[in-house]
Amino acid sequence: MNIMNVDYSTKIPNNVNLSEDRQVLKALEGWHPGYIDWWNDMGPDGFQQSLVYLRTAYSVDPRGWAKFDYVKMPDYRWGILLAPQEENRVIPFGENYGKPAWQEVPGEHRATLRRLIVIQGDTEPASVEQQRHLGKTAPSLYDLRNLFQVNVEEGRHLWAMVYLLQKYFGRDGREEADELLRRRSGDADSPRMLGAFNEATPDWLSFFMFTYFTDRDGKMQLHSLAQSGFDPLSRTCRFMLTEEAHHMFVGETGISRVVQRTCEAMRAAGISDPADIAKVRALGVIDLPTIQKKLNLHYSLSLDLFGSEVSTNAANAFNAGIKGRYRETQIEDDHRLQNSTYPVLKLVNGEIKRVDEPALTALNMRLRDDYTQDCAKGMLRWNKIISLAGYAFRLTLPNVAFHRQIGEFKDINATPEGVLIDDATWNKRKVDWLPSAQDGDFIASLMKPVTDAGVYANWISPPKVGIDNKPGDFEYVKIET
Ligand SMILES: [Fe+2]
Ligand SMILES: [Fe+2]
Repeated sequence: MNIMNVDYSTKIPNNVNLSEDRQVLKALEGWHPGYIDWWNDMGPDGFQQSLVYLRTAYSVDPRGWAKFDYVKMPDYRWGILLAPQEENRVIPFGENYGKPAWQEVPGEHRATLRRLIVIQGDTEPASVEQQRHLGKTAPSLYDLRNLFQVNVEEGRHLWAMVYLLQKYFGRDGREEADELLRRRSGDADSPRMLGAFNEATPDWLSFFMFTYFTDRDGKMQLHSLAQSGFDPLSRTCRFMLTEEAHHMFVGETGISRVVQRTCEAMRAAGISDPADIAKVRALGVIDLPTIQKKLNLHYSLSLDLFGSEVSTNAANAFNAGIKGRYRETQIEDDHRLQNSTYPVLKLVNGEIKRVDEPALTALNMRLRDDYTQDCAKGMLRWNKIISLAGYAFRLTLPNVAFHRQIGEFKDINATPEGVLIDDATWNKRKVDWLPSAQDGDFIASLMKPVTDAGVYANWISPPKVGIDNKPGDFEYVKIET
C-alpha cells in the first residue's frame, strides 16, 4: 500500500496496513466500542447530531493531507496515521547515537517508553473532557467548529498512542489502553495524570489560553518524541504535529481577536486608561488586565508540565535514545551531552540564580526555555494590536518562579516580575495576578451562545479569514437539537 494515503475501507482508517496485522486490528476493534462510549459520555456536551464542517486526514503528505466536509462527530473517522518511514534513519542522540533506529521496542527501555507514551496519551482525552461544556456558549459557529475540530483531533491523538500500546506492548499495553478510557479530568478518585489536565476550562478565554499555552507544551513534547530512536513513536508524533499546529492557531488567533475587540470598544468609547476595569467591562468586553491574569494562570500551569528543572528521568530517556531535544537534528553539538552544562534557574539562599548543571539532567529546563521562547511570539502579535490601537498596555509572560506547583519554585511565592514575597503578601496580592471569582463571574456573564452564521459575540472580533477559505457567513455547524 502507499503509505502516504490512508486506507478508509476498514473500520479503523489507517496507513499501517492494519488489514494484514490481524492481532492488532482485533485488539483495536475490541477497544473501539469503549472509545465510542467514552466519546458519548465525555466528549462535547450536545451537538453530537449536528453536521460540523471538519477536516479529516486522507494522506500524511504535509502538502495536502486534509479534506473538509460536513460530518456528525460520532461518525468522524478516527484513524491511525504515521508519517512515512525515513529510509536508514538513525538514532539522533544519546548513547546509541548513529545506530539504526529501532523498529521494535528494545527490551531494556520498554518500561520508560511505555510510561512516556501513556503520559502523552493521557493528555489527549483529558483536554476533550475539560472542554466538553464549551459548545453551549460558543461566540460563533466558526469558533464552535474550531472547538470540535480540536476535540476530534485530540481523540485521534489518543488513537495514535493506543495503537503504539496495542501493537508494541502486548498485554500491559492493552491494560494501559483501557486505563486511558477510565481516568477522568478532575475526578477525585481517578484523575488524569498531569495537573494542568485536571483544571477546569470554564470559558472561551480559558479555551484560547489553553490551546495557546497548554497545546504548545504538547507541541514541545511531541517534537522531543518525534526525535525518538523508537521509530514508530517518532513517525506517529511527526504526523500529530501537523494537526497540532491548528490547535495553537485557534489559541493565538482567539486571543488576538479578544484583544482586538477590547481595543476597538475602548477606542470607540473614548476610554484612555485600559486599567479602568469597570468602564471597560461596562462595554461588554474583557479588559486587558483580566486577559493578563488568565495568561498568567495558563502559562504557569503549563510550565509545570515540563517537570522538575533537574531530572535524572529526563537524562535517562535522552541517554537511552528515547526522548530528544526540541529540533535535535538541527542542533550542532555532539548529541551525547556527556561533558556539557546548561544554565538552570534555581533558588540559592533565597534568591533566583542561574546555576550551571550537567546538560543531561537539565533537559527539562532546556525544553521549557524553548517553550518560553515559542510562547513569546504571541505577546509580540497581541501587543502590536494594542499599540496600533494607541494604548501603552503590554501583555507579558510572568516570571517562571510565579505560581508554580512543580520544580525549584514550588515552595516559594513570587510576583509575576520574579520578586520573592512572603505568604501574607502573596495572599493579599494574588487577586491582582490570577483570575478571581469575580473575574470568572464577569467572563461567565459574557458567555452567551451565538448561533447565526457570520455573527460574533460582542466580546470577540470576527476572524480575518474563514476555515478552508469559506466566506464570512458560512454555516460551519448545522445545529441539530
Ligand atoms: Fe493532541
Ligand atoms: Fe492539541
